Amino acid sequence: MPDSLLRVLTCGSVDDGKSTLIGRLLFECGSIPDDVLVALERDSRRFGTVEGGTDYALLVDGLAAEREQGVTIDVAYRFFETPVRRFILADSPGHQQYTRNMVTGASTSDFAILLIDARKGILAQTRRHAAIVSLLGIRDVVLAVNKMDLVGFDQAVFDGIVAGFHALLDRLGPLNVTAIPVVARDGDNVTRPSTNMPWYTGATLLATLERAEPTLRPLDVPFRMPVQYVNRPDHTFRGYAGTVEAGTIKPGDTVINTTSRVEAKIAQIVTMDGDLATAGRDEPVTLVLDREIDVSRGDVLAVEPIPALAGQIDAWVVWMDETPLFRGRAYQFMLGTKSVVGTITDITNRLDVDTLTEVAVRELALNEIGRVSISLSHPVACEVYTESRTLGGFVLVDRLTRNTVGAGMVTAIKAARSDVYWHRMDVGKDARALLNGQKPAVLWFTGLSGAGKSTIANLVEKQLLAMGRHSMTLDGDNVRHGLNRDLGFSEADRVENIRRIAEVSKLFVEAGLIVLVSFISPYRNERMLARDCVEEGEFLEIYVDTPVDECRRRDPKGLYQKADSGQLRNFTGVDAPYEAPLDPEIRLPTLEGSPEVLAAKVIDALRERGIIG
Ligand code: ADX
Repeated sequence: MPDSLLRVLTCGSVDDGKSTLIGRLLFECGSIPDDVLVALERDSRRFGTVEGGTDYALLVDGLAAEREQGVTIDVAYRFFETPVRRFILADSPGHQQYTRNMVTGASTSDFAILLIDARKGILAQTRRHAAIVSLLGIRDVVLAVNKMDLVGFDQAVFDGIVAGFHALLDRLGPLNVTAIPVVARDGDNVTRPSTNMPWYTGATLLATLERAEPTLRPLDVPFRMPVQYVNRPDHTFRGYAGTVEAGTIKPGDTVINTTSRVEAKIAQIVTMDGDLATAGRDEPVTLVLDREIDVSRGDVLAVEPIPALAGQIDAWVVWMDETPLFRGRAYQFMLGTKSVVGTITDITNRLDVDTLTEVAVRELALNEIGRVSISLSHPVACEVYTESRTLGGFVLVDRLTRNTVGAGMVTAIKAARSDVYWHRMDVGKDARALLNGQKPAVLWFTGLSGAGKSTIANLVEKQLLAMGRHSMTLDGDNVRHGLNRDLGFSEADRVENIRRIAEVSKLFVEAGLIVLVSFISPYRNERMLARDCVEEGEFLEIYVDTPVDECRRRDPKGLYQKADSGQLRNFTGVDAPYEAPLDPEIRLPTLEGSPEVLAAKVIDALRERGIIG
């Protein structure tokens, strides 16, 4: 007996007849309310494309239009049922951003319908859909070859398409394919066998869906529950709330907190409707343990063999942001209920969805899918995606805008680097700082080219020297002659430029120095990364605030003139962005004061913060 609920992803475009097919399924399974049917008949007469008949596409597209006003939801879930089974159809509308929508739909589906227009055969889009479906772990697909009437119900056309798809399978991975010739508009082989294609003796689409037993989600996987929150209303009760992601559990079973490796027994399984004798997949529960162990949000309670603790992972990432994904950039990495900082340490390959082969790349653009390595700021309990969608699937979130910019599937897990050791030295930052008689700090000057960063930093350092302070300066123009000589001004290179400088300033802070950094550092993301490199209170972001017109007027190196005349590309403030600090520790408006006055302001701020006495 198949699982009573099947989650199905539908892939294809409106032109392939996707809306018509979905509309048909909903209609024939009686999921459409009467008033909607009346409107459908009326609209079919007015706007329909099916002469004298009902245009089922209007039904779905009508819902879609309504939904699109809400804009935020990009995947529509439709429910219908037959006497045999309940279905959730995930439908990702729209031609634009289809990758994002498809990923969202596919990550919650067990089964996919790939729709093909019999006249067009397998298109780039079909290969793309099949590749995403396969990457997201769906193993069972129906190839619905639609509009068979328009090719004269010709078996040879159908067989040709099916053979073409099978030829892709060695590059797509293991997919179980059922091919069905259909006419969605008339219902042939959708819910009832077609009299037009006696050569096809297989099941209808609906019957296939009713009988499908997706290979996904093996039932014998051990128990896993990511902890959503610790429920502690008073000192008499402490429970761990979450949704069971895999396996089953009952009181008396031993569970392990994957993060600390400490174990305890289940004392009680609490729910809104009373205690349970056992809990399984998808059930929201609160677990009470027989002893107090340390468990917090983001930890995973599990039964042996427990998930690995990853320090670094390799993954497929589907990139969903206009700004490409670069090496060195850091994002919020969210997996299960855990959220840590993930830094992109490598981007190696992109999946070319047209040829289904991998191509070497260094960055990922919007809608591209690639192999990425990510280093995690704290260990995360995870599994490879093919074993667990919940503990192997993650999203990347922009740390400033909070937008979801990527979706990923873990392919390999590496423990926090066990072959590279951290050697503890007896002489540390504090001792060095004490000897220097100062608190180390990073004074991070950011602003446009020509804003006055170096000028002011230079004055500040002279004063520090006069006061007997120990300092070091890192200046964009100078460091780019040595350590960063290999870097240009593309976004990827600037990310790497700042990443290195952030690491170098951290080393100088370890040396007990006051470090003056003056780099344009145009991206908030990297300035945040630099801030994260040192301890709280050690980083001062100093915004040298000069409007671009004033920089252009001063133009000390003649670079604005070159940029304006097109001789210099990617020039900050001209044809490359500058993201002004939102909340800098110090703002220096250079139109309002001389460099000497502004340098004095920095010295004052250092005194206020106890960095200098
Ligand atoms: S950053 O953007 O990566 O932080 P950085 O501070 O290292 O830049 O270097 C900026 C300096 O390089 C500028 O002051 C300018 O003299 C020079 N430069 C050359 N080309 C460019 C460019 N396309 N954009 C900005 N600065 C440039």
